[in-house]
Amino acid sequence: MSAPEDTAIRTTEVIRRKRDGRELSRAEITHLVMGSVRGEIPDYQISAWLMAALIRGLSRAETAALTEAMLRSGEVLDLAEFAAAKVDKHSTGGVGDKTSLILAPLVAAGGLIVPMISGRGLGHTGGTLDKLESIPGFRVDLSLERFRQVLGACGCSMIGQTAEIAPADRKFYALRDVTGTIESSQLICASIMSKKLAEGIDALVLDVKTGSGAFMKTLEEAASLAELMVDAGQRMGTQTVALITDMDQPLGLAVGNSLEVRESIQALGGGGPADLRELSLELAAWMFHLGRRAGTLAEGKQLAEGLIRSGQALEKFREMIALQGGDPGVIDDPERLPRGKHRVDVPSPESGYVRKIECETVGTACVILGGGRERKEDSIDPAVGIVLHKKVGDQVSAGEPLATLDYNSPSRATLAKQRVAQSYAIGDRPVSARPLIHRVLGGASRP
Ligand code: URA
Repeated sequence: MSAPEDTAIRTTEVIRRKRDGRELSRAEITHLVMGSVRGEIPDYQISAWLMAALIRGLSRAETAALTEAMLRSGEVLDLAEFAAAKVDKHSTGGVGDKTSLILAPLVAAGGLIVPMISGRGLGHTGGTLDKLESIPGFRVDLSLERFRQVLGACGCSMIGQTAEIAPADRKFYALRDVTGTIESSQLICASIMSKKLAEGIDALVLDVKTGSGAFMKTLEEAASLAELMVDAGQRMGTQTVALITDMDQPLGLAVGNSLEVRESIQALGGGGPADLRELSLELAAWMFHLGRRAGTLAEGKQLAEGLIRSGQALEKFREMIALQGGDPGVIDDPERLPRGKHRVDVPSPESGYVRKIECETVGTACVILGGGRERKEDSIDPAVGIVLHKKVGDQVSAGEPLATLDYNSPSRATLAKQRVAQSYAIGDRPVSARPLIHRVLGGASRP
């Protein structure tokens, strides 16, 4: 990208203008993005701007300019060499949200190309790359050339941002993670859409989370984020659908990197928790539908079910793991995945029914165990995490375990155990869990 016409633009003024609630020009936004990528604007100035943007908000025009500047901070892939439709899915982030690990191999097993560029854990939410790296040897830092080779060989590949793909998001994402600047629908939109639109895909299914474990806590906030992203995708000529799905309790039972890989292997093999299976099938159905592999969503779902039943989906995961340097033996023997040295149960303080699980608190407990980052340079402990035994609506007796923690550090486990205990609310009457899918936006857009 050529130098922005920014010789007259001063970074401190751009920060002050946003702090004061003024609308920035496209040139000012490009100045920040490119200045950061080139190392000319230090992280502390970008962090200050991110906080101003979070508090003051960005207009539609600013969001579009930010998304585009971040997209153009790197390369936009051309995957025209693949005849099949290129489709992807991206989640806005949740707790126990491991559907990417299931969908990439599942949809590739159905004949579509899934070039998935994912992120790391952000705040209390888990990240696909951190989960994949818990598979011994698995490499997420492939070159774009190797990415294409893996796509050619097995139809799916899952990598992190390379230096070439949306490098601005890589920088901004890492800063947002540790500066309290995640929960902005405009920053989330720019972050996700810059990465996804750089993939050269034909269609994108967005999983926009809402509830106590999501960045967008209310349905209204989630809907406005979904609208922004569908709009950004369609403006750039990519068919984009957003499903607003529930994150008021963790998805599935496992929270934590290697534990989630284990649960994904179960789901690809036809088992695993019902909510995880249902959401994965629904998202796969949309991917097949938008990728013209299925005329209707019902057909898409049937196709996905068949690929799981026949073992093709799991086989595809094994293939991808091997091609990316990982140990494919984890498929048959998940004991090869790292596991915390110790385990401790979190007992229920009383008998009754689980009324609520404060989902962000469970995610934070996992971060405290070492499964996420509190500072940018922190490394992840892939082995630790939480397995829930009770979910909303389940009956429980006093003293029965609500969850089990897998841990390596006893002092961290003590703190995390308190958090998990606090996250559960027990009542004396049965309640039903909220629906898994709240709303679909942009679904009528398939030409
Ligand atoms: N996922 C992303 O890739 N970016 C965000 O900002 C939030 C979730």
